Amino acid sequence: MSAEIADPRPEAPALQSLSDSEFRRVAAIASQDAGLMISDAKRMMVQSRLSRRVRALGCADFATYLASVETDPSGEERRALISVLTTNVSSFFRESHHFDMLRSTVLPPLIDRAKSGGRVRLWSAGCSSGQEPYSIAMLILELDPDARARDVRILASDIDPAILSKARAGAYRPEDAVNLPSPAGRRFFKSVGADGMVSVTSDVRSMVSFRALNLHSDWPMKQKFDVIFCRNVVIYFDGDRQRSLWPRFHKALSQGGWLFLGHSERIHPIEGSGFTLQGVTAYRRDGGTPDPNAPRR
Ligand SMILES: C[S@@+](CC[C@H](N)C(=O)[O-])C[C@H]1O[C@@H](n2cnc3c(N)ncnc32)[C@H](O)[C@@H]1O
Repeated sequence: MSAEIADPRPEAPALQSLSDSEFRRVAAIASQDAGLMISDAKRMMVQSRLSRRVRALGCADFATYLASVETDPSGEERRALISVLTTNVSSFFRESHHFDMLRSTVLPPLIDRAKSGGRVRLWSAGCSSGQEPYSIAMLILELDPDARARDVRILASDIDPAILSKARAGAYRPEDAVNLPSPAGRRFFKSVGADGMVSVTSDVRSMVSFRALNLHSDWPMKQKFDVIFCRNVVIYFDGDRQRSLWPRFHKALSQGGWLFLGHSERIHPIEGSGFTLQGVTAYRRDGGTPDPNAPRR
């Protein structure tokens, strides 16, 4: 795991060592259910996170826990296992150059369209604890304080229901409310409770709808998006899973729509993908459809 995407969760002392076969079973579930690629380098991290879960459930050891995961007909503990394995690091206005581009280039024509009664749709795919979609909402509200009254909506999705609950709650430590686009951005947060947490205002929250969605399953959304953020998500998938997503994002975008990826993610190869690179990890959907015979490297 790179420093940039390191997880802040403190490591739990391990119960015992995860055996090779147990580790492979966990990696197989992660790959099948979420497309997550778990290399040997992540073994200690997996062992530590699983230890916490196994203890919380009162299981004697990893073997007992894995047997219960594999035989649970409801699939509930399988989903909980995926939740344990996902990395949810995020922050407000992360990779700020994308927000600069939104402000200068992407949003102004979309806001003009909304002001003329048109529809604008944005999607934060892999939204984690909500900082990304809320940052987008804050920027829209800064550019158009009346945006709430227009047909402008942000869909925020993630595979992990636990992190989505946190996102919906919209409460953060004060030190997380940083990197705001302007000092005036502070108005999008209010202090809550004696615990000193700050929460995003109802104006910001009302622009975002959260839903659980596995990117490797069907996408039920019928309307096209003008902008998709899928940042620091596909880095956890293997090459085939990544490549399977580019044509799906292409199809989900309106013509001229934008796709933003994380700093170490790329559409590769770009030839025949139906996208054009417009800035650092910022892509724009061309007209037409992707070339099915495009090279696959
Ligand atoms: C590191 S966070 C990225 C958050 C945000 N996009 C950002 O850049 O700050 C990665 C998120 O991807 C989600 N994720 C992983 N696999 C997924 C899948 N198959 N479908 C949907 N979301 C997934 C994880 O649950 C996690 O919340």
